[in-house]
Amino acid sequence: MCGIIGYIGPNPAYPVLINGLKRLEYRGYDSAGISILDGTPKVYKCMGKIQDLEDYVSGKDITGSVGIGHTRWATHGEPNDINAHPHTSRDGHFIIIHNGIIENWDLLKKELERNGYSFVSDTDTEVLANLIEHIYLSGDIKAEAAVRLALTKVVGTYGLVVICRNEPDQLIAARCSSPLVIGIGSSEYFIASDASPIAEYTKSVIYLNDNDVAIIKKDELILKTLQVDEPKITLQNLNIETGKYEKDGFDHYMLKEIFEQPRSIADTFRGRLVPDQSDIKLGGLHSVLTQIQNARRIIIVACGTSWHAALIGEYLIEDLCRIPVEVEYASEFRYRDPVLGPEDIVVAISQSGETADTLAAVRLAKEAGALVLGICNVTGSGLSRETHAGVYTHAGIEIGVASTKAFTAQITVLTMIALLLGNKRELITGDKYRSLIGEMHSIPSKIEVLLKQDAKIRSIAAGFKDVCSMLFIGRGYCFPVALEGALKLKEISYIHAEGYPAAEMKHGPIALIDNNMPVVVIGIRDKSYEKIVSNVQEIKARKGIVIAIVSEGDEQIASIADHVIEIPSTNIIFSSLLSVIPLQLLSYHIAVLRECNIDQPRNLAKSVTVE
Ligand code: G6P
Repeated sequence: MCGIIGYIGPNPAYPVLINGLKRLEYRGYDSAGISILDGTPKVYKCMGKIQDLEDYVSGKDITGSVGIGHTRWATHGEPNDINAHPHTSRDGHFIIIHNGIIENWDLLKKELERNGYSFVSDTDTEVLANLIEHIYLSGDIKAEAAVRLALTKVVGTYGLVVICRNEPDQLIAARCSSPLVIGIGSSEYFIASDASPIAEYTKSVIYLNDNDVAIIKKDELILKTLQVDEPKITLQNLNIETGKYEKDGFDHYMLKEIFEQPRSIADTFRGRLVPDQSDIKLGGLHSVLTQIQNARRIIIVACGTSWHAALIGEYLIEDLCRIPVEVEYASEFRYRDPVLGPEDIVVAISQSGETADTLAAVRLAKEAGALVLGICNVTGSGLSRETHAGVYTHAGIEIGVASTKAFTAQITVLTMIALLLGNKRELITGDKYRSLIGEMHSIPSKIEVLLKQDAKIRSIAAGFKDVCSMLFIGRGYCFPVALEGALKLKEISYIHAEGYPAAEMKHGPIALIDNNMPVVVIGIRDKSYEKIVSNVQEIKARKGIVIAIVSEGDEQIASIADHVIEIPSTNIIFSSLLSVIPLQLLSYHIAVLRECNIDQPRNLAKSVTVE
């Protein structure tokens, strides 16, 4: 959630901070602030977007080559100027930015109040600032020692950066469950909650581990842990795209990312579908392939859109490999004491690789001795570092909060895994294997064809911009797509939407159907096609409005639905890669017509790093 950026070096800090915050704005966007040090610290913060902060700071003193910046997604205390970060301790000794939740803030606050402290904000972060100051003033200790001592009293999660007024030549950073990465430049350091604002300055980075504390000076980086021991340092070369943050003529990042899918899917299978189409190579799984191939069962954990990809993974792996698969919400899995052991294989799917619940599920699975694999879009993220093996999606940076191209890249990886395992288990052999690999190659061009229907989908969207609710139904592979279609709509247009397995309609949702209820039916031709035709008839008999996503050349559903969008013919195992595209476009256009904030929908954040 919240975005953190810090700079210390020879150059003015302000441009690094403000540009960094713009890159991080997808993580939280209800308020923002900076502190810059030039001898004495200055703090500027306000409610609103980074642009509001820029306007607010305009004309003010921004000199200084040490600074921190924060973009907030509110947890404790409503979004307003006072609750915005940075927070300053009562006597002004410490200035702090923080991502995470201090769970025992109430106890700590009462203790500080007994020691004469009062508070101006509603945040847990101000409690932490005052706790550090209280410890600092109570003994003859350095700022970094006060920070470390304070953090031993904290229960909760944090990624934080602290400035001490009396020690203005350093930043102090610490991490517990909320990611922080330090970029190493030439006589300068950067620190951020993810690598995106750092990548343009340096490729040399260190990801902090839990309990690490970094004391960052212009020409020196000292890494300790809360318990003083020196941690292992891993210098990594950043392998992430830079300079690809523009909208390239699209009105929104989301639309750009929808249109990027032919490329992002091809990038995800490039080098993995071998050129003569005879095999699939997934280097990241090579060392554990036999173990996966012989798995007793596979458990997939994820959140949000990634959870929908996981459901499609279940269908694919069970269909093609006959290995039982269970799909779990990471947040439920981590707390419900699941039956797990060394014979299990757990696959965690996460675009960001930083979702708190998914990472916690990974740790739990590792503790139980399971082999833990990751499917992730961000190189160097927590997930990629904490799993035993895995496969990167190569979707490129996804900025729109509502995930689109990451979803189809995840399905691409899951499809490759299922095909590869199916072949190794001798369930898909010879010509069939080659022909499916060949068909996978054709998916990007089929999406290009589908995207040409954008104008048609926009005109369909116009008829639904004022509805209160929408249902999405499908069977088989189309069911998770229905869930994803409903999620997209509610995320960005704030229209209530629900996805259902089509047959479940009769167990409740059918009661909602009248002439005001639009139902999106994903009715791709497969073994349950006739059943879904009946479902469409049942909706029409109750005067519901049907928007149907059907296979090319479909006549049955097309003849009864109100609106029809055709997808190019494909084997059903690839169909979700196609059928989700019109749903992404439909939500997008409805949300645009409702004048919603497409790339930064209210209350949401791209990366949910608190539980
Ligand atoms: C947030 C995002 C979603 C995303 C989910 C899981 O809710 O807004 O788009 O699907 O987190 O994120 P992950 O990075 O783990 O895939």
